[in-house]
Amino acid sequence: MKNSIYSISITVLTIFISSCTKDKVGGNLPYPEIICSEPISFNNEILPIIQNNCTGCHDNQNGYTLTNYQNIKSNYSAIVGAMKGQGFLLMPDGGPALPDSIVEKIQCWVNQGLKNN
Ligand code: HEC
Repeated sequence: MKNSIYSISITVLTIFISSCTKDKVGGNLPYPEIICSEPISFNNEILPIIQNNCTGCHDNQNGYTLTNYQNIKSNYSAIVGAMKGQGFLLMPDGGPALPDSIVEKIQCWVNQGLKNN
């Protein structure tokens, strides 16, 4: 009895997890936990966040160039990793970390397919 409850819950959990990730833009982009109800604009929201917090030290220096759509897009995973301090040094360098709401905006932009909009 215990075992069947266990395997039923594993099955339900598996279906639940796969149904959450299945129909996402880009298939296996890494932020399934973020719910994004509003469309995010790269030019009006993402670019200013990066320019105000990152470009000063990453304008062709310190390993990453974060100045335009192309280079921000190709480094999205390092950008979010550094903003969260996960897998990368926490950025902005020396802290403090940016507010969660800002980091979530970047994650939503990623989940929405890294659009140049
Ligand atoms: C005050 C300067 C400064 C700011 C602002 C800054 N960085 Fe950095 N960043 C650095 C330096 C310097 C390094 C090289 C590693 C080190 O010595 O800390 C670095 C390294 C990195 C790395 C590589 C980290 C690693 O673990 O390999 C990433 C990714 C990064 N920055 C992204 C960002 C992002 C995204 C922002 C904006 C949220 C940002 N940085 C803001 C100075 C800065």
